[in-house]
Amino acid sequence: MESGLDYYSARALLEWQIELGATEAIGDAPVDRYALPDTSPKPKKAEAATAAPTKPKAVDPVATALSVAQAASSLDQLRSAMEAFEQCELKRGARQLVFADGTPGARVMIIGEAPGREEDREGKPFVGRAGQLLDRMLAAIDLDRRENVYITNVLPWRPPQNRDPKPEEIGMMKPFLERHVALAKPEVLVVMGNISCQAVLGKRGITRLRGNWDQAMDLPVIPMFHPAYLLRQPQMKRQAWADLLELKARLRGAS
Ligand code: URA
Repeated sequence: MESGLDYYSARALLEWQIELGATEAIGDAPVDRYALPDTSPKPKKAEAATAAPTKPKAVDPVATALSVAQAASSLDQLRSAMEAFEQCELKRGARQLVFADGTPGARVMIIGEAPGREEDREGKPFVGRAGQLLDRMLAAIDLDRRENVYITNVLPWRPPQNRDPKPEEIGMMKPFLERHVALAKPEVLVVMGNISCQAVLGKRGITRLRGNWDQAMDLPVIPMFHPAYLLRQPQMKRQAWADLLELKARLRGAS
């Protein structure tokens, strides 16, 4: 049937219905499925008798991610490997891969959580409201993604309805993140919010962890409040400012 709707409008309508609580797609006329002819394919007799029982091949998504990530020897190759990776369900609900933005090889690499609606649309991390705040925060300490910051996320695909990433999704995509860091070669990592802290440091409790240097992936790591949290809790910007100054001092000292 020709609906006249383009893909994105149809998808927006479907998402709206899911938000309203629809759980099943049904037609507007009842269907008596018992009265329908059986059209399921029948196994051919000879084949059915002789075919050896086939064991379904078990694919270990983490092992697959590890081997394809390790094989990438440049950021472009890593992006292609991630684009070709089919094991993460999030890929099917997202418009596109959100790989990274900014300056590869910069001293500072920021790791956010996952793309939101704007990022999914544009294919770049941190371009929505939280991203605009992040840019202002960075500018306050003379950092700019166009010159001296590289930005990515723990997950490269938008989770449906912006839900929290699941631990198995984080675990599956972590080999890509590790390879991403190794290929981008920053001097320090900034992990924004609890999800990134958990993925990179294996720890939660951003209020306690923020501003304190830690170590992961062979690099110094500083956890900070996520800018989306700062938009909701602007009174926490004072602590975020202190953390930015801490980062600036570290960069000065190390230069
Ligand atoms: N929040 C994130 O953690 N990452 C983005 O790219 C956008 C919002």
